[in-house]
Amino acid sequence: MNVILGIVFFICGSLAVYLYQKKKYKNFTEEDFVCELIQKSFFKSKNATHTEHKIVKELLKSEDFIKDLSLTAKLKGMIVGYVLFTKVKIGKDTLLLLFPIVVASKFQKKGIGRSLIEKGHLMAKTMGYKGVVVYGEPKFFEKFGYELASTYGIFPPTELEKEKFFVKELKEGSLKEISGEVIYPKVFFEIKE
Ligand SMILES: CC(C)(COP(=O)(O)OP(=O)(O)OC[C@H]1O[C@@H](n2cnc3c(N)ncnc32)[C@H](O)[C@@H]1OP(=O)(O)O)[C@@H](O)C(=O)NCCC(=O)NCCS
Repeated sequence: MNVILGIVFFICGSLAVYLYQKKKYKNFTEEDFVCELIQKSFFKSKNATHTEHKIVKELLKSEDFIKDLSLTAKLKGMIVGYVLFTKVKIGKDTLLLLFPIVVASKFQKKGIGRSLIEKGHLMAKTMGYKGVVVYGEPKFFEKFGYELASTYGIFPPTELEKEKFFVKELKEGSLKEISGEVIYPKVFFEIKE
């Protein structure tokens, strides 16, 4: 009897979850899936602000958004990774800001993050951009050729630590004439939890 009851509860529970998810995702756009992935991916991150998905939502609408540099990785039609490169100003020049790079936890350490970042770099270089800045974990970003930005005379906004701010030259010598403070999109400092 108990076994039969257990099976019935299991089936009803699974059905309820299935119907809930079906309803929730029915009207989801690709942007909604991306933002949900971002929110989940940063959930356990110790340096996260948990506003990352809200910032991206705004960046996707901003004039600094570049559609071709908003890249998803999909497996069986499901978005499992995402990277965005947004235009940022430094003096009269424009660089790109890499934010965010996320991979769904189940699919991490399989090379998805690397393939998204490298594809983005290649496309950005082809499009003529000179360099990419990023704020984050040195051990991860140095794998992709990022160096401490301050050694190039490139600095983050005062709200951020310069020790965690990195830059990648997309073409040899392309950053030679570029220095100063990178102007971040305002949304980074306006959105609160
Ligand atoms: C960081 C993140 C995007 C990596 O994605 P991934 O698909 O697991 O990365 P890859 O498998 O392509 O790994 C690429 C390299 O980085 C290394 N790596 C992966 N995660 C790392 C981490 N957290 N710290 C340091 N190195 C890391 C891998 O070992 C690999 O090195 P190798 O090529 O020398 O073997 C993923 O862990 C994530 O979504 N984290 C939560 C969000 C986040 O913190 N994003 C970064 C700040 S925007």
